[in-house]
Amino acid sequence: MTRVQLVDFAALTPPQIAEAARILREAIHGPSYKQPGEAEAEVARFLGNPDRFAIAALEGDDLVGWIGGVRDYPASLELHPLVVDPPRHRQGAGRALVAALEARAVAEAFLAIHLGTDDEHGGTNLFEAEAFPDPLAKLATIAPSAQGHAFFFYRKLGFVPVGLIPDANGFGKPDILMSKSLRRGQ
Ligand SMILES: CC(C)(COP(=O)(O)OP(=O)(O)OC[C@H]1O[C@@H](n2cnc3c(N)ncnc32)[C@H](O)[C@@H]1OP(=O)(O)O)[C@@H](O)C(=O)NCCC(=O)NCCS
Repeated sequence: MTRVQLVDFAALTPPQIAEAARILREAIHGPSYKQPGEAEAEVARFLGNPDRFAIAALEGDDLVGWIGGVRDYPASLELHPLVVDPPRHRQGAGRALVAALEARAVAEAFLAIHLGTDDEHGGTNLFEAEAFPDPLAKLATIAPSAQGHAFFFYRKLGFVPVGLIPDANGFGKPDILMSKSLRRGQ
């Protein structure tokens, strides 16, 4: 298991900020952040923005991954984005980043964390499937394909599915909505 140090984005050096953009571009499946400058612009939105913050996982000086928090509701914090450098997957960095975001959310008195996780690449059986007429019934059948999907990572960490945006990214490419309660005993 990787032992990572968790630091606020504000403490990163310019080369580490550049790494954050590279990892965002390379880790996310599908077309997001692939246009020139797109990942850099997204990273910049987490610097000096009162509605957002981000936490990086460092191993020595190397940036392994990062997670963002978006304060878009009064009492539920949005997790967006979460990326770990592909060669570093399955070494515990993602779990450590989510734990750091949860601690920050609790400290800020949020009651829950929510997120949307797209299936644009066929990581689940919802990909290229008809969600209507009962999208929630379809969501209840969710299962991983051979390549797998972050949905199952989040579920392992205590997030539960709360909805589905059918065809969000094209036919059969839904956004899967999840939430985790931060209230004790939930
Ligand atoms: C999803 C992601 C952040 C997970 O990070 P990670 O560092 O590989 O995850 P961890 O090693 O901390 O895994 C924690 C647990 O989840 C499990 N897990 C990780 N990825 C999983 C997957 N795709 N499917 C099922 N379980 C998964 C691990 O096996 C581990 O379980 P364990 O504690 O029982 O051993 C990483 O795969 C990633 O960056 N993916 C691409 C970007 C992405 O999809 N981000 C989410 C967009 S919403």
